[in-house]
Amino acid sequence: ICRGLSSSAVRHVVIKNVTIIGGGQMGAGIAQVAASTGHAVTLVDTNEDILKKAVKGIEGNLKRVVKKKFADKPEAGEEFLQKAMQNVSISTDAGSVVQGTDLVVEAIVENLKVKQDLFGGLDKVAPAHTIFASNTSSLSITDIASSTNRLDRFGGLHFFNPVPVMRLVEVIATSSTSQETFDSLLNFSKMLGKTSVSCKDTPGFIVNRLLLPYILDAVRMYERGDGSKEDIDIAMKLGCGYPMGPFELSDYVGLDTMKFIMDGWSAANPDNPMFAQSEVLNKLVAEGKFGKKTGEGFYKYN
Ligand code: NAI
Repeated sequence: ICRGLSSSAVRHVVIKNVTIIGGGQMGAGIAQVAASTGHAVTLVDTNEDILKKAVKGIEGNLKRVVKKKFADKPEAGEEFLQKAMQNVSISTDAGSVVQGTDLVVEAIVENLKVKQDLFGGLDKVAPAHTIFASNTSSLSITDIASSTNRLDRFGGLHFFNPVPVMRLVEVIATSSTSQETFDSLLNFSKMLGKTSVSCKDTPGFIVNRLLLPYILDAVRMYERGDGSKEDIDIAMKLGCGYPMGPFELSDYVGLDTMKFIMDGWSAANPDNPMFAQSEVLNKLVAEGKFGKKTGEGFYKYN
């Protein structure tokens, strides 16, 4: 690794080799962006088929980007595509690939125990300088990091879906994250072409902590019959300039995901009415109506 001086003269690890664990929606997106910005990326998942599908998805997305971005320079476009794809390798063995990695970004299932087990195992085999980061949406980074002995080299890197399109990364420092680690994560986000904001390790960080109670409030308004979901969506789009109304956004995020996050917060803060249960949301989730991905949520999709 190279340890360089940044413009602000703070030491940070220059991240070149990245291991991304979890080749689902988020992991594949992070891999795509990291590979297109010149990082050597290894994408890890539990089986080859998921990984092959992820790589195919990345290639398809990049082809579309190249077609647009290099419309008048097809040769340069082809070169960009080839280089980016050469930067991506796949593996089902996280333990062996982390040996040569500067940064591990975890984007596996949203389950504390599973995340702790993964990091606890990797901590024993990864080089000392390797930084660990989780893309969790709702769990505490401190809790995840507690299974390792590298609390100073552990932070949160919270991306947004779809990763290649959304420009924000929330960079989370726990009370043990070192300044060097934090600066390395900020610098990495910048290298990916993202804008970063920093946040303490508090539930939902910035975006989800503000977004989910807002969405739940909209659902409660609809439950009370104060307005139809269509009107509430139109109101927030035209009155606030939001690209999607709260019900459209819920269907996009996934009602199951929203419920999972809210349940976690309400268990930790049972007296906070902001996190209280919603009958409508519970019913839709119980019926398997999770939103766009299942064809129905608050709205129906073809
Ligand atoms: P996903 O379900 O699309 O992908 C998760 C992948 O992890 C699957 O391919 C699964 O096979 C793999 N996996 C599970 N356990 C593993 C293990 N032990 N080792 C290796 N691979 C394993 O999930 P998604 O949506 O990509 O979310 C991943 C993480 O990112 C979660 O923590 C989620 O909270 C967070 N997140 C999700 C966002 C979203 O909008 N979907 C936004 C920001 C963060």
